[in-house]
Amino acid sequence: MSVLEGKELRIIGFLCNWCSYGGADTAGVGRFAQPTDLRIIKLPCTGRINPLFVVRAFLNGADGVLVSGCHPRDCHYTEGNFYARRRLEVLRALLPVMGIDPARFEYTWVSASEGQRWRTVVEKFTEQVHGLGPIPAFNSGTCLDACLSTAISSAPAHAAIGETHGLST
Ligand code: FES
Repeated sequence: MSVLEGKELRIIGFLCNWCSYGGADTAGVGRFAQPTDLRIIKLPCTGRINPLFVVRAFLNGADGVLVSGCHPRDCHYTEGNFYARRRLEVLRALLPVMGIDPARFEYTWVSASEGQRWRTVVEKFTEQVHGLGPIPAFNSGTCLDACLSTAISSAPAHAAIGETHGLST
């Protein structure tokens, strides 16, 4: 159960393997109490994140999505987080068009040694999402649903960029 008051919400965290996943692990080893709403998906790098992963998480009922990777200039693949930052900024601007409050989405940078910072990031974002409450249900069969399903199934562009940088999962 979340350490926050009330019902546990569904927050998805996309974390890069080399920094933020290590930071979450450091927080765990340090036994820092954290909200339990976050479900972590580990990826090789934030540069591997197709923005449609985030959209799909929301369409499948996530109340919030957090992306976290290495600090700028610390990316294990040199520039993956720079690609990510550009894409995720565009995504944030487009979320309202899809009817999703952009406050439900956040991206940040946490290194493997920053267990305390990881806890702060998770607490702050979880509080923010709890302030918004559960995400309203999307109507399946809508144009948005159909368009995104098509886009998701035929979106090789970001995967191709990841593959050229050795980031395929
Ligand atoms: Fe962590 Fe690229 S390896 S952001």
